[in-house]
Amino acid sequence: MSASASPRLEGRLIALGVCGSVAAYKSIELVRLLRAEGAEVVVLMTKAATAFAGTLAFQALSGHAVETDVLGLLPDNRIGHIVVADTADAIVVAPATARWLGAMANGIADDPVTAACLASSAPVVVAPAMDGDMWTHPATRANVERLTGVFGYALVPPETGSLASGQTGIGRLAELPRIVNAVVAAVGTSPVRRPDPADRPPRTAAPHEADLAGRHIVVSAGGTAEPIDPVRFIGNRSTGKMGVAIAEAALARGARVTIVAGRVEVPLPAAATVVHAESTAQMRDAVQAAVFGDSADALIMAAAVADFRPRQTADHKLTRGGLLTLELEPTEDILAEVGRQAAAEGAEGRTRPVIVGFAAETGSLERAPEKLRRKGADFLVANDVSEAGSGFGTDTNRVQILAADGTSDELPLLSKRDVAHHILNRVAGALDARDALAHTGRPRTES
Ligand code: CTP
Repeated sequence: MSASASPRLEGRLIALGVCGSVAAYKSIELVRLLRAEGAEVVVLMTKAATAFAGTLAFQALSGHAVETDVLGLLPDNRIGHIVVADTADAIVVAPATARWLGAMANGIADDPVTAACLASSAPVVVAPAMDGDMWTHPATRANVERLTGVFGYALVPPETGSLASGQTGIGRLAELPRIVNAVVAAVGTSPVRRPDPADRPPRTAAPHEADLAGRHIVVSAGGTAEPIDPVRFIGNRSTGKMGVAIAEAALARGARVTIVAGRVEVPLPAAATVVHAESTAQMRDAVQAAVFGDSADALIMAAAVADFRPRQTADHKLTRGGLLTLELEPTEDILAEVGRQAAAEGAEGRTRPVIVGFAAETGSLERAPEKLRRKGADFLVANDVSEAGSGFGTDTNRVQILAADGTSDELPLLSKRDVAHHILNRVAGALDARDALAHTGRPRTES
């Protein structure tokens, strides 16, 4: 994609310790930011932290089981927090609570975060979050002094702002890019401690498997139907297989999925939110509502949308007679509208969704690059629907994925499920790049 600054934590293992504060939910995003910098991340949580943020999101995003028990063993009987202590290139505790600072200052290893820090020679970064009075209390001050002065831990001090207590004051968890920068600084140029994955805590999933956790993906599927009269319509041959395959793959990768379904002939996944939309006008409203009304991270427009509709719909069934002439008018171009709106959001500095269009062509794909530009999409999945094994109703597809930066992937004939994963690889990469840019102002290459 765009020119890149190389990720600053490539190949590193970073342990993230999460303590029981309202700010624990922010650590979920911190995992993503550390990953976007190239780090492998393993999460340790205190019992109280699990009351504020579930382990599942951390596990899904990090691809590692979450250590919550100081007595916990890995499947191969190694002691979880010791393996982390021995292999992490840095430990970052965010949010660190007043209780945790006290436990750490006194070496009381009754939670996995403290235990890992005690057992480790890796640099430790501490980002506290708590009520303002707790932060300024002499006990906390003394504990922080001991951690920074005697232990040499790096502190990312809390910031001033509105606090969970309803008060305004010092105590808010520092902005996440500051914490990431502190981790980068703590690691410095030291060699990677344990590059061998066999030494590190075992992965629970391939990195891509939950790479869409926390994302909202909107997929349109199937064909639209434009009514001629109460019983007849203008439709098309789409079955919805490709859109549903994308929805299923996105769900498997941890995304929240909304399917805007036209006429489909395949079962829709129960885990998705389904909005039915028969006509192009209904699909337009449903897509707009899901994308801009429900903060979608991506729109994948796999539906076969009518380009024309009858100018008038008869309110009674048309009877057999002589010649019937239908006057057709163009429909709204849903994808192009979303593309324009997203570009406007981006221009105003707001987070904009990643947009994927499809181009069903017959004979040649030469019009695809122009279509990508015209629709304002980030990616266009082009296929020749006249080719055997591709297009409507088949279980396979041979596609080319064109990107707005001029690159393209020409894929062989694949199952629609595999095509779906290829498309989502591009979407996940674009979203990670978008986030890295938003949080650090530094562009990052999409792999
Ligand atoms: N699309 C849309 N709204 C329409 C027509 C198409 O959102 N009214 C979307 C499709 O879902 C697809 C992409 O636009 O993702 C391209 O569709 P395609 O039919 O290939 O392109 P057209 O706009 O119809 O262009 P052309 O008729 O020139 O092929």
